[in-house]
Amino acid sequence: MPRIIAVMNPQIAVGKTTTVVNLAHALSSLGHQVTAIDMTADKTLTGLLNASLGAHGLSDVMLNNMNLAAVITQLKAGFNLVSPGTGLLDYEHIESGSLNRAKKLKQAIANSQVKHDDFVLIDCPSQPGLLMFNALFAADEVLVPVTPSYMSLQGLVRVTDIFKRIYPSGNSLSKLWLILTRVGSDSAKMEAIKSKVITQFPQRMFASAIAENSVIASTSYDGTNIFTDQRSDEANDYLLVADDILYGRTL
Ligand SMILES: Nc1ncnc2c1ncn2[C@@H]1O[C@H](COP(=O)(O)OP(=O)(O)OP(=O)(O)O)[C@@H](O)[C@H]1O
Ligand SMILES: [Mg+2]
Repeated sequence: MPRIIAVMNPQIAVGKTTTVVNLAHALSSLGHQVTAIDMTADKTLTGLLNASLGAHGLSDVMLNNMNLAAVITQLKAGFNLVSPGTGLLDYEHIESGSLNRAKKLKQAIANSQVKHDDFVLIDCPSQPGLLMFNALFAADEVLVPVTPSYMSLQGLVRVTDIFKRIYPSGNSLSKLWLILTRVGSDSAKMEAIKSKVITQFPQRMFASAIAENSVIASTSYDGTNIFTDQRSDEANDYLLVADDILYGRTL
C-alpha cells in the first residue's frame, strides 16, 4: 500500500493545495509514483494542475461506486490526478451505511491500482464533514501546513481535536506531521511560533520550511509551475521537504 497523506488544516489559505501540487511534483521527480486526490469541491488543485479531465471524478467513486482507477488522469510519468468530479459535496449528505460512509475512500484506494502507488496525497476540504473524515480514515498520515500566524495555529488545534475524537486511545499524534509554509520576513514572529509549536509537538515539524515567495504564488492555471525548471530554488525547497517525508527528518 502507498503512504497515504492527507494534507489538512481547517484554516483557509495556509497552503494546503500549494503543498499538494509541489510535493507531488517533487516526489514524482524523485522517481516515486504519486496520485494526488482533489477533495475540494472548488477544484483548486485540479485547476492549478491545468489538467484536461475525463468525464468522471471522485464524486463518481463516492456516490456511484465507480472504480477509482476509472477516474484517474495521468499528468506525467509518476504523477496521477483524481479530480473531484461533479457534485462531490452531495456526499456530505449521504445518510445510509453508518461507519462505512466514512471509509469509502479507504476502500476505493484498496480496491484499485492506486494501492500499488508509492504516495497518495489528498488535498482536503477546509470544512469538517464526511469528506474530511473519509480523508482521515484513508490516510496513514496527516500533514498540516502551518503559517506563522496565530489563526493558523487555531487550525492545528482543531485538527488535533478531531484526531482525539477519532482515536480516543493510542498515540494518534504519531500520524501527524507539520510543515511551516508561507514564512515571511518577520523572523522574530516566525521563531516564536515555531518554538511554540515544536514544544507542543516535538519531532512532528518537518525540518524544511517553505518561504512566502512570489514565484510559488505564481504557480498558475496555465500549467506552469516551479518544477518547469527543476533547478529553481523553489523546486529545491520542495525537494527538501520530500526528503523530510522520505526520511522522517523533523525538528
Ligand atoms: N509559499 C508561498 N508563497 C507565496 N504564496 C503562497 C505560498 N503558498 C501558497 N501561496 C498562495 O496563498 C494562497 C493560498 O494557498 P493555497 O490555495 O495553497 O491554500 P489552501 O490552504 O489550499 O487554501 P483553501 O483553504 O482556500 O483551500 C494562494 O493564492 C497561493 O498561491
Ligand atoms: Mg486549497
